[in-house]
Amino acid sequence: MDLRIQKDCSNIDWNEVSQIMKEVNIGSFPAEIRQKAFENSAAVVFIFEKEKLIGLGRAISDGTYEAAIYDIVVRPEYQGKGIGKIIVETLMESLPTCSFILYAAPGKEGFYGKLGFRKLKTGMGLFIKKEHMRQRGITD
Ligand SMILES: CC(C)(COP(=O)(O)OP(=O)(O)OC[C@H]1O[C@@H](n2cnc3c(N)ncnc32)[C@H](O)[C@@H]1OP(=O)(O)O)[C@@H](O)C(=O)NCCC(=O)NCCS
Repeated sequence: MDLRIQKDCSNIDWNEVSQIMKEVNIGSFPAEIRQKAFENSAAVVFIFEKEKLIGLGRAISDGTYEAAIYDIVVRPEYQGKGIGKIIVETLMESLPTCSFILYAAPGKEGFYGKLGFRKLKTGMGLFIKKEHMRQRGITD
C-alpha cells in the first residue's frame, strides 16, 4: 500500500471524519465537534492511501509526561493490514516523553495489548453519558 501519514489537521474533510467514526460505531458527533476535538489535541494522525482517508487517531497531553489516546479508527475495508498499529505508534512517537492511557472499545483490548499496553488495575472514569458507557461495557 502507498500510505501517506499526516500529523496535522490541514485540509481534512471533517464531514468524512464524522462519517467514518459513525460507520465504526465510535460515536456520532457532528463534523464541527470532531474538528474541534482533533484541533485541540496534542498529537493527531491521519493515514491516506492514494489521497483517500483510511485511518485516524489523536492524543491529548500536557506535552511532557502524560497523554491519553482517543478516536483510533481504521476504515472497515482496511482493517487487519497494520494501519491501526501505525496510527498508535505514530502518536506515541509524537509525544516521546509521555506515558499513555486509554480505554479500549470492548473487544479491542488485544489490539492495544500487542502494542505494549497493560490493563489498568485502578482505572476510573466519570463520563457525561454514564448509562451509555455502562451499557457499552466500558464502566461497571
Ligand atoms: C481497533 C482497530 C483500530 C485496529 O486497527 P487495525 O488496522 O485493524 O489493526 P492492525 O492491523 O494494525 O493490528 C495490529 C495487531 O493487532 C491485532 N489486532 C487487531 N485487532 C485486534 C483485536 N480486536 N483483538 C486482538 N488483536 C487485534 C492484529 O491481529 C495485529 O496483530 P499482529 O501484529 O500480530 O499481526 C480497528 O479494528 C478499528 O478501527 N476498529 C473500529 C473502531 C474501534 O473500535 N477503534 C478502537 C477504539 S478504542
